[in-house]
Amino acid sequence: MRKIETNKIRWGIIGTGDIAKKFASGISVLADSELVAVASRAKRTADAFGDLFQVARRYDNYESLVEDSDVDVIYVSTPHNLHKENTLMCLQAGKPVLCEKPFAINAREATEMIQLARERKLFLMEAMWTRFFPLMTRVREIIAADTIGEVRMLMADFGYRSNDLNFWVFNPNFGGGGLLDVGIYPISLSHQIFGIPNQITSISHLHKGVDEQSAVILGYEGGRIALIASAIRTETPHVAYLLGTGGRIYVHSPWWKPTTLTLSVNGRADEIIQIPFQGNGYNYEAAEVARCLREGRTESETMLLDETLSIMRTMDSIRTQWKLKYPMEPSN
Ligand SMILES: NC(=O)c1ccc[n+]([C@@H]2O[C@H](COP(=O)([O-])OP(=O)(O)OC[C@H]3O[C@@H](n4cnc5c(N)ncnc54)[C@H](OP(=O)(O)O)[C@@H]3O)[C@@H](O)[C@H]2O)c1
Repeated sequence: MRKIETNKIRWGIIGTGDIAKKFASGISVLADSELVAVASRAKRTADAFGDLFQVARRYDNYESLVEDSDVDVIYVSTPHNLHKENTLMCLQAGKPVLCEKPFAINAREATEMIQLARERKLFLMEAMWTRFFPLMTRVREIIAADTIGEVRMLMADFGYRSNDLNFWVFNPNFGGGGLLDVGIYPISLSHQIFGIPNQITSISHLHKGVDEQSAVILGYEGGRIALIASAIRTETPHVAYLLGTGGRIYVHSPWWKPTTLTLSVNGRADEIIQIPFQGNGYNYEAAEVARCLREGRTESETMLLDETLSIMRTMDSIRTQWKLKYPMEPSN
């Protein structure tokens, strides 16, 4: 991929919902990036978003944004079911993409997206923002330094109670349910720490075609285990534990937007490590994209596309156990 050498990385956003607004705020604290264009399905929402974030170029359709030659990279912030379609459209127009999590509905879709990015030699990354927080970098450093020995178990959860049953997360047509919305965070953490599981056991409570809550156990070579809970109708503690042979790391709530951990090493007093984040946290993933684009990279080493694909495969296997298929997925 050619290196982007403009003074500032010029972002375009597809979709003007909740996360798009947070991401736009995130970019605003970065000195070397700017939001230059936004696309919505309607002029009114594009203008409202443009006014809110002082974005000059406002499009009332997604197609026009991908053709804008003054946009260097596009952030796809639409509901899950549109990630593939929107990302493919950007890549076909020659634009690098940061696509919200879950990257796609399933591994089949993710494969198509990754193949096109690789064919076109364009940058593509799943927006798993948790990985880019400074505290998460410290967690990886502690593990790499063998401070807690071999990590043998991981326990993490992400569950919230929504009472808005009109929210798309309750709608199977959008790929709703807790697993793809929030279960993906602890699953992604497990993939990062342990790799690809060789055993998957899970149960869920399904209601009207989506998983309201679930428990997943991932098994790995050598008997390492990850215990994972997620929910969209039940509030959970939002904590993560990494349990090693020589100690443990406890990432305080909310672990997926972390600032604090307790490091317990056998024979030593517990140490509390605090690393506050700047901005609203979305700036870190945006900064990583900017760095990769400037270096001409097509992938981030912190969120590799093969890992994104293996995460999608794990979630496919889990849904197969639940016999949970979305309406847009072929019946076999
Ligand atoms: N990383 C995170 O922390 C985080 C947090 C929340 C959500 N997310 C992810 O971000 C994605 C969007 O979530 P969100 O909470 O921002 O959703 P949202 O508030 O509903 O926004 C989604 C946007 O997508 C566009 N869209 C296009 N077709 C749509 C359709 N048929 N129905 C509804 N919206 C449609 C709309 O923008 P226009 O009307 O402007 O076209 C809408 O505002 C999801 O995949 C979710 O998993 C990530």
